Amino acid sequence: MALDSAFLDEVRARVPIASVIGRRTKLTRSGRNWKACCPFHGEKTPSFYVYDDHFHCFGCGAHGDVISFVMQSEGRSFPEAVEQLAGEAGLEMPRQDPRTEARAREAKSLGEVLEAVQAIYRRKLHQPEGREGLAYLRKRGLSDETIEAFGLGWSGDGRGGLLEELRGQNVTPGQLMQAGLMRVDERGEVRGELFFSRVMFPIRDRRGRLISFGGRILGDGQPKYVNGPETALFSKRRNLFNLDLARQALRDPKQSLLVVEGYMDVIALYQAGFRAAVAPLGTALGAEQLEALWREAEQPIICLDGDAAGSRAALRAAETALPLVSPERSLRFCRLDAQDDPDSLIRREGPEGMRRALASAVPLADELFGLMSAGMPDPSPEQRAALRARLEAAAALIGDRNLAGEYRRTLLDRFFSAFRKGGKGKPPSARGPIVPRGALEDGAAERLKILTAILLAHPDVLPDVEQAYSLLELPPDLDELRGGLLDWLAEQPPTAPMTQSGCLDWLAQHGLEEAAQAALEGKLPRVARREAGEDLLAVNVRQQWWHFYGLVNFPAFEAEVMQDMRRALLDPSLDRFPEGLNARMQALEKVRRGESVEDDD
Ligand code: UTP
Ligand code: MN
Repeated sequence: MALDSAFLDEVRARVPIASVIGRRTKLTRSGRNWKACCPFHGEKTPSFYVYDDHFHCFGCGAHGDVISFVMQSEGRSFPEAVEQLAGEAGLEMPRQDPRTEARAREAKSLGEVLEAVQAIYRRKLHQPEGREGLAYLRKRGLSDETIEAFGLGWSGDGRGGLLEELRGQNVTPGQLMQAGLMRVDERGEVRGELFFSRVMFPIRDRRGRLISFGGRILGDGQPKYVNGPETALFSKRRNLFNLDLARQALRDPKQSLLVVEGYMDVIALYQAGFRAAVAPLGTALGAEQLEALWREAEQPIICLDGDAAGSRAALRAAETALPLVSPERSLRFCRLDAQDDPDSLIRREGPEGMRRALASAVPLADELFGLMSAGMPDPSPEQRAALRARLEAAAALIGDRNLAGEYRRTLLDRFFSAFRKGGKGKPPSARGPIVPRGALEDGAAERLKILTAILLAHPDVLPDVEQAYSLLELPPDLDELRGGLLDWLAEQPPTAPMTQSGCLDWLAQHGLEEAAQAALEGKLPRVARREAGEDLLAVNVRQQWWHFYGLVNFPAFEAEVMQDMRRALLDPSLDRFPEGLNARMQALEKVRRGESVEDDD
């Protein structure tokens, strides 16, 4: 694959070489640069130097940039190393794959359909039928200028008006379905418009291309917001509301990148002069969204609602961020009063109130300590020991080794100064950082295929393994299929039954039918081949999945399971191990004993 040099430069610029090398060998400061014992030849005193953009060993002569370091240290080919680093930097590989190109072409025309619909929604807002919608937005304090800046609109009543209006423009029901604007039933029949009687919020990607809509009901009613489904253009876990305008606003150094919970928060902030706010799209803030944020700012400020749900979301965001943070990429957290979100704070106290709140934002380490120690004014020795272990485990999640050490120290300093008496029972010490992508051993390719095939046959297992699965390094065909599976999962309402046929249909509708069939043709282990049904079987399928995963990626798997075990042991609120952890512990035992997977049942 020919990779153009601008892309390679971008990869080199985005992935700090020291953080990559720091995972292999311990770096110490040497003036502006770093030095270390050379990872390529055995030595006791450091003669390996890391500069801004390259490394050099004065002992053995090893020399190169970040890409060649990955090639040399992990035995990867050039394109493999580039792909890995691009993934870490959140950059899309330029692909020549014909299917991807076909998707891009389809995406272009979908974009045009969305733009045509957007024009209709906007017009309706100012017509008699949109009167209530416009009144609602004004009642919420939005100026005409703000309504215009975000392109807000009115959906109409949903009685087929959209198709009618678009008839002259050659737009078919099928296209509206692909654009996520019309519903279809199980048999793929078009069943009417998704949005009706709602004010419409256009959702754009980071480059400003329209990709979907969210719609809010007027006043109270459920669901309050409806978002478009996943489509060829729209991925909820990759995009953020308003990222396009926020990026532009960030050219002004006085603006900070803010992450808030709701669309209305983003818009109220914009109107109050905070123009670089974004929001996730109805799901928790995920790793890919963090990567997208870090492309724009080193320290986005997470500003969640002040209620209990906001706290939980903050802890979740912090835990998602930990494996990804580095000296150049971190988060700050801004907490609001319990009854507030940014919108209500600004309405009551104006921009000044928001400025005060932002001024009190704290670094990730402080927020972690605060969240983890919350509700422990006078902890018992057991609680202190448990807290200390949780803090150490949190620090151990950090991939950057030097930074992990700094976090550990900072969190423990906090711990000791908060509870001056110190913990009594000494908790087990934290392990080294967890490396999610282990080197692949023989037979790994087949196993990666089986891991995917099990999930296709039993998609209900996916939520339990989502994180591990999404971090696996997969060949391009499986990678694309995985993207589809994860998109499908993101779209499932919490209570929906996750059936194989539902999943396969969805994949087929998104151009992945062949890929799914090819993966399923492989050798499925016996347990996974049987029909789903009893609980016992479900447990076995999970365990098998972890067994294969353990075979592909043993050191990381072992470290992860041990860490979760320790956490569970120290969690005073748990009286037994969660089911998911049990399955992984049993799988770990089997891998350790060298059992073959077919012995599982
Ligand atoms: P909130 O209910 O906090 O949103 O949900 P908000 O912006 O404060 O809402 P209002 O308009 O001021 O009352 C936060 C976000 O969660 C998603 C939406 O993205 C919303 O902006 N959400 C919320 C849904 O997707 N569906 C829902 O039913 C509710
Ligand atoms: Mn609100």
